[in-house]
Amino acid sequence: MSPVLAEASRRRTFAIISHPDAGKTTLTEKFLLYSGAIQQAGAVQSRKADRATTSDWLELERKRGISVSSAVARFEHDGTMLNLLDTPGHRDFSEDTYRVLSGVDAAVMVIDAARGVEPQTEKLHAVCRARGTPVITFVNKMDRPSPEPLAILDDIEEKLGLTGQPVTWPIKPEGRFQGVVDRASGRAYRFHASGPGGTRRAQEDEGGVDELAEEVREELELLDAIGADVDVDAFLAAKATPVFFGSALSNFGVRMLLDAITELAPAPGPRIDVDGEPRPVDAPFSGLVFKVQANLDPRHRDRLALVRVCSGRFERGAPLTCARTGKRIQAKYAHAVFGRERETVDEAFPGDVIGLVNATDLRAGDTLHEGDAPVTFPPIPTFTPEHFATAHPADRSRVKQFRRGVAQLDEEGVVQVLRHPDLGDQAPVWAAVGQLQFEVAAWRMEHEFGAPVRLEGTRFDTARATDEDGVAALAGMRDVEVWRRENGTPLALFRSRYVAERIERDHPEIRLDTLLLG
Ligand code: G4P
Repeated sequence: MSPVLAEASRRRTFAIISHPDAGKTTLTEKFLLYSGAIQQAGAVQSRKADRATTSDWLELERKRGISVSSAVARFEHDGTMLNLLDTPGHRDFSEDTYRVLSGVDAAVMVIDAARGVEPQTEKLHAVCRARGTPVITFVNKMDRPSPEPLAILDDIEEKLGLTGQPVTWPIKPEGRFQGVVDRASGRAYRFHASGPGGTRRAQEDEGGVDELAEEVREELELLDAIGADVDVDAFLAAKATPVFFGSALSNFGVRMLLDAITELAPAPGPRIDVDGEPRPVDAPFSGLVFKVQANLDPRHRDRLALVRVCSGRFERGAPLTCARTGKRIQAKYAHAVFGRERETVDEAFPGDVIGLVNATDLRAGDTLHEGDAPVTFPPIPTFTPEHFATAHPADRSRVKQFRRGVAQLDEEGVVQVLRHPDLGDQAPVWAAVGQLQFEVAAWRMEHEFGAPVRLEGTRFDTARATDEDGVAALAGMRDVEVWRRENGTPLALFRSRYVAERIERDHPEIRLDTLLLG
């Protein structure tokens, strides 16, 4: 096996998708504790709280406690290198949250057992589905009262169209959580709640299935009878999801989940390019820019492009080409992006993420490659925007700076900038999937480009992606206008969601998508 293939095969690159409060931070912390990457429980949580005092980042982020400081957590489990990509803006949803998913090979979906599949999880999963990303499910907070496990599986199936295939099964006689059974081995793992709140400490004691309550045995037999076993092919095809039950806070069921990530989640494989051709893992270096982040940390006041290595070996200093512009990039300053301290990276392999400093021309979605044979990976899917605002320069003497700033923020994908064909560059509409994107953009306009903006509400509240046939068909209809992005992509903007839904219903022939490609 070539060294690149060997390195790739021992990597798993994934993200956690969940709704705020389901337990993403707690689970991340438990992963890091397991692997020895951190020593002390509470380190991740307290970082959340400490951020206000210890970090020098963008004021806005500080105010809101948003994490941008650590793009990737890397840790080892059983000899496998795990790259956990942070889905930023977990609480304040933004396009970056979706973009990160184009850098992973699998996702762990964390569901609050009592709340089931929640809206943000549904949206993130839609991106996984669009990309065919396999999903492993962790039903969290089992220490608390929750619906019957079968009802949780039904909820997953109904809302996400995913068949839940339980790897473990909760032991819950009379509704009291006592542990889980590993269905394949029949081994029972007992949950012993003790300590304050009854959940702080728990152990995974092994016991036999014979001691199980009659009720649980019947459920297990039923599962066997309906053949709810893990089907690896269906999982890899993103049609089924292996399901684990546990409690991140009590550190219960976390090791089994980690085992599943190393054993079931796919290693980096050939990535399909825009022509539909798979790029072999050991082809010369190629990588996807999945996020460009402007660092306002005074120590590193620069722009960082986060690149997921897709094929080959990345070597610091090797000349790379940006497929979109054809321009050469000298990756002299490549950094690891774990935490705030920057470490120079000399080499990286498929599945790894590197940060390129001051690669000013790069945008999210760009493909980088080594050598003369160009390769381009497909655009990153995101959702059509749900928030709109017309941007005006607050200071008329700063129009030049205003234009420059707007162009730059558009390029970086901080907000989507839309223009009306008749209005040109005047009063562009900013569009975003999360309100926070406006705040970040306005903050940067003022502090970075010296062009404060005045944002004004628009008459739109819904957008759909369309095509040129759609543009023609929509012309003249009421309560809808077509605006265009910088790259020409037409977006139909509607007065209200109801107008959009009515037109969708009455004109099924018009392409109106909620998923936006590129
Ligand atoms: P998030 O990153 O997805 O937003 O969730 P986070 O891990 O911050 O967890 C949200 C809340 O749920 C936290 O409580 C956390 O302690 C709790 N939690 C996480 N896993 C479990 C679990 O397995 N069982 C129970 N019972 N609770 C869990 P909090 O009160 O908001 O914060 P904290 O005071 O505990 O830090």
